Amino acid sequence: MNKLNTGFQEGFLWGGATAANQIEGAFDVDGKGLSTSDMAAYKDPYAEGVVNNFTFNVNSTELKDYLNNPEKYLFPKRWGIDFYHRYKEDIALFAEMGFKVFRLSISWVRIFPTGLEDEPNEAGLAFYDAVFEECAKYGIEPLVTISHYEMPITLTEKYNGWISREIIPLFEKYSRVLFNRYKNKVKYWITFNEMNMNLNSLYTGAGILEDLVGDKLQAAYQASHHQFLASALVVKAAKEIMPDAKIGCMINQIESYAKTTKPEDQLQALKSNQLNMFYPDVQVRGTYPTYMSRYFEDEGIHIEIHDGDEKILKEGTVDFVSISYYMSHVTEARKDASRLAGTFDSPMKNEYLELSQWDWPIDPIGLRISLLKLYDRYELPLFVAENGLGAKDIVSETGEIHDDYRIDYIRKHILEMKEAVKDGVELMGYTTWGCIDLISCGTSQMSKRYGFIYVDQDDAGVGSLERKPKDSFYWYKKVIETNGEVL
Ligand code: BG6
Repeated sequence: MNKLNTGFQEGFLWGGATAANQIEGAFDVDGKGLSTSDMAAYKDPYAEGVVNNFTFNVNSTELKDYLNNPEKYLFPKRWGIDFYHRYKEDIALFAEMGFKVFRLSISWVRIFPTGLEDEPNEAGLAFYDAVFEECAKYGIEPLVTISHYEMPITLTEKYNGWISREIIPLFEKYSRVLFNRYKNKVKYWITFNEMNMNLNSLYTGAGILEDLVGDKLQAAYQASHHQFLASALVVKAAKEIMPDAKIGCMINQIESYAKTTKPEDQLQALKSNQLNMFYPDVQVRGTYPTYMSRYFEDEGIHIEIHDGDEKILKEGTVDFVSISYYMSHVTEARKDASRLAGTFDSPMKNEYLELSQWDWPIDPIGLRISLLKLYDRYELPLFVAENGLGAKDIVSETGEIHDDYRIDYIRKHILEMKEAVKDGVELMGYTTWGCIDLISCGTSQMSKRYGFIYVDQDDAGVGSLERKPKDSFYWYKKVIETNGEVL
């Protein structure tokens, strides 16, 4: 019989998470190329009700409008929060909170500006060397995501992103450069951020211009097949180059509840959850799960799989499973339920849950349920690589930020994580999303703040960029100091 867990394990990796395209800024310096996220526009932030993050599809009216009126458009991910120049100050603040781990991603286009070069860009590599050295100064382990929602725009123009198999060797080349360069500095890696979100945005997840593909679902699954292969090849390479490293997969974990106890609704919830777990199913087991054959048949999806692909998947299985967790969904037996499963178009209101200011259902128990299910399924260590509350913060007249709502949100999620650990789940760590305020992924807003550290900047990029600890900063510091005992 196993020993009863009473709390978070010793050496639990407490910290925070970010992504290059949401923090770095400096989009055109030191040889960096243009990435897909540099072309995600946010239109007129001051127009009432306009919160718009979109990409220029070839036939879109936005593209025509942009070409005629470029001054109307903003690209906030180009300026981020200027982490590129302020990383020392930011990492020092993370260290003050006691971070054991800092999750960040590497910008592919800093290393290979178009993705096509034979030799990497030394200035880009040197930047991450400096960041990792800064982390090491404070004993903070980096957790590196190799691909977090961006890729060279050249590869979108030339191949329409991950719909093409041609991207696989380019991604492997890029990853091998990272492993060889950082093998002594980085132990924890994630290949792709939230691969399941290809279903939600083909452009964000896979660099695909939607109006160049027919069936979006077909495109999402074909792109995911290529990413599975790329991920498996890279996992294999990581194990050769860095035998002690730990390399994981990641999904946006969205637990689907059935709307009623009607068996039809229960069955749909089971199927929706299968579709979400399809991604780790492949990456942990190294093979496509049988339930997908029926799904592809029903939806008229045909995935092009080459001889040898199955072997590649088998040889590149991951060491741990990481998730981001923000919300749960509700589903019911209706015609489009399976098509929409796992996308943001699917959630139905859950009368038992409150909503965030951005209408995301807040469900800490859903996190416990998710962890238990994932652990039952894989029996691999789990990592909560993102979780947090996007909210509008107000700076008081005396300059403080009293974000008790954020403390309340994170406290409740940590409590449920702790229950999951007591239930027997092996949990490696917890990195809250946007530990420092950053540009939102979905809306490109600065005003959707997640951080323990306030950054003085508005949606239009105006502000001093001064960093300021919020109340949650001091609270989280205590949580880490006590390994989650004082909440
Ligand atoms: C996750 C992404 O899905 O959600 C992050 O990995 C993102 O990049 C986070 O920022 C929160 O979403 P948003 O749209 O509020 O920034």
